[in-house]
Amino acid sequence: MSMQEKLDILSKLRADVTAGGGQKRIDKQHDGGKYTARERIAKLFDEGSFKEIDVFANTEIDYRAVKNPNEGVIGGYGTISGRKVYIFAQDFTVVGGSLGRVHAAKICKVLDMAMKVGAPVIGICDSGGARIQEGVDALDGYGQIFYRNTIASGVIPQISVIMGPCAGGAVYSPALTDFIMMVQNTSQMFITGPLVIKATTGEDVSQEALGGAATHNQVSGVAHFMAANEDDCIAQIKALVSYLPLNNLEDPPTYPAVEPALAQETLLTVVPDDANKGYDIRNVINAVVDAGSLFEVHQYYATNGVVGFARINGQVVGIIANQPRVLAGCLDINVSDKIAKQIRFCDCFNIPIITFMDVPGFLPGVQQEYGGIIRHGAKMLYAYSEATVPKITIITRKAYGGAYLAMCAAALRADTTFAWPSAEIAVMGPEGAVNVINRKEIAEAENPIEKRKQLVQDYRDRFANPYIASARGFIEDVIDPRETRERIINALWNLSTKRESRPKKKHGNIPM
Ligand code: HXC
Repeated sequence: MSMQEKLDILSKLRADVTAGGGQKRIDKQHDGGKYTARERIAKLFDEGSFKEIDVFANTEIDYRAVKNPNEGVIGGYGTISGRKVYIFAQDFTVVGGSLGRVHAAKICKVLDMAMKVGAPVIGICDSGGARIQEGVDALDGYGQIFYRNTIASGVIPQISVIMGPCAGGAVYSPALTDFIMMVQNTSQMFITGPLVIKATTGEDVSQEALGGAATHNQVSGVAHFMAANEDDCIAQIKALVSYLPLNNLEDPPTYPAVEPALAQETLLTVVPDDANKGYDIRNVINAVVDAGSLFEVHQYYATNGVVGFARINGQVVGIIANQPRVLAGCLDINVSDKIAKQIRFCDCFNIPIITFMDVPGFLPGVQQEYGGIIRHGAKMLYAYSEATVPKITIITRKAYGGAYLAMCAAALRADTTFAWPSAEIAVMGPEGAVNVINRKEIAEAENPIEKRKQLVQDYRDRFANPYIASARGFIEDVIDPRETRERIINALWNLSTKRESRPKKKHGNIPM
């Protein structure tokens, strides 16, 4: 056979692989508001940069008899905004993107190579789950992926993008990665689907209500990002990648500095004079970070906290903040999980953490106690204590009790702590405090209401300020709110050479 004839065979085989499951199934994919795996990759990567690996990997070793070209998944690497990224994208047009032995091996190769070269991995899930015909080989394949997801955790960023069904144990690969994105109406994640639920518990629920993007972004907290459609999702993936280093030995990329969207003067009036009134902490963040750079993670979940990424003077930072507008900014079970996860991601990947604190305390309540607020809140204490990246804390107003510590007080090894003059740092708020320490005095007073009011005011004057904590050295400086950005930029510069290590150990035992 001549070289030309051999090349013709190669072209045909390549064309078969590129065609996936054929035009009929591709049309079905499009009709459902979904792109094909190859279209998704093309839209995500810089033009012409994608290189496929294991192109001809197949269960069938006779190349003339291949039934399922690509085995339902496409893997490879390329660039996004010029930076190296690995990807595997399940191809629903081939056996429903179901996972068999070779499909799993292709994903494992992507994860292994990404680890070896130190590049993030994006996994696009669109699959009917374990390939039923392959039995335990499929189960073992999932196990191999779970193992690699775990070993890669904290070494390379891993992003899971759900763009179709993702059911059964298959959901655990995404759950082991750093971020999960979902697309409204076309993606679902659940352990058991509506039919099994109906048969076992009698509950009636639709696929979307059970495991759609809104459910996992707002209710369960399983997903971190929600997109209106696949184009929106691809834009969000690119945005997320722009904040991340390629691996744990690198720093995040830097960008040209941009002035904040809000004027510094707005910081003088953002905190209401009335301590019981809420405000939007984003108005503080957006006056401090580069315009348009705040990129929230878990935007729709546990909205009593705001976490995400931003840039300050072009440098990527992690943002963690209480949101006084929701539940007065109290820490509850869900927000504790949300914050702890963000702290740990930032610490893994050399992203300095900026914490904005305005917290009246942990949320009181029987359900919170029964739900284990103690072990959930402990995650924050643990994560902040463990983190060795630069940690800068700004107290805008309330900083009470254990929640003051949990939001990265000096004791948890914040490197730099600033307080605004409006800061109130004490064991508990004035109302609660007088109820405990002046209860008898109030009860015995001629006019208990007036007495109480006066004691609350006394307490507020004495304790609800930043100066006692400053006198003890817990606050580096009390600053004019308008200086916040400038002081953070200076602190980041100062801490850029920070070196801190913890005792060597196999691993810690974070409360769960
Ligand atoms: C083999 C599968 C498959 C699977 C789908 N297909 N899922 N083949 N194994 N798990 C095939 C179909 O036979 C069909 O082939 C093609 O993929 C497209 O599927 P359709 O059913 O036509 O598509 P649609 O109507 O859109 O429905 C999608 C679906 C449905 C909801 C995902 O296919 C489905 O319910 N699949 C089974 C889901 C499931 O129970 N998986 C096992 C989960 S347990 P043709 O040739 O007709 O195009 C699991 C355990 C993992 O995954 C454990 C890990 C630890």
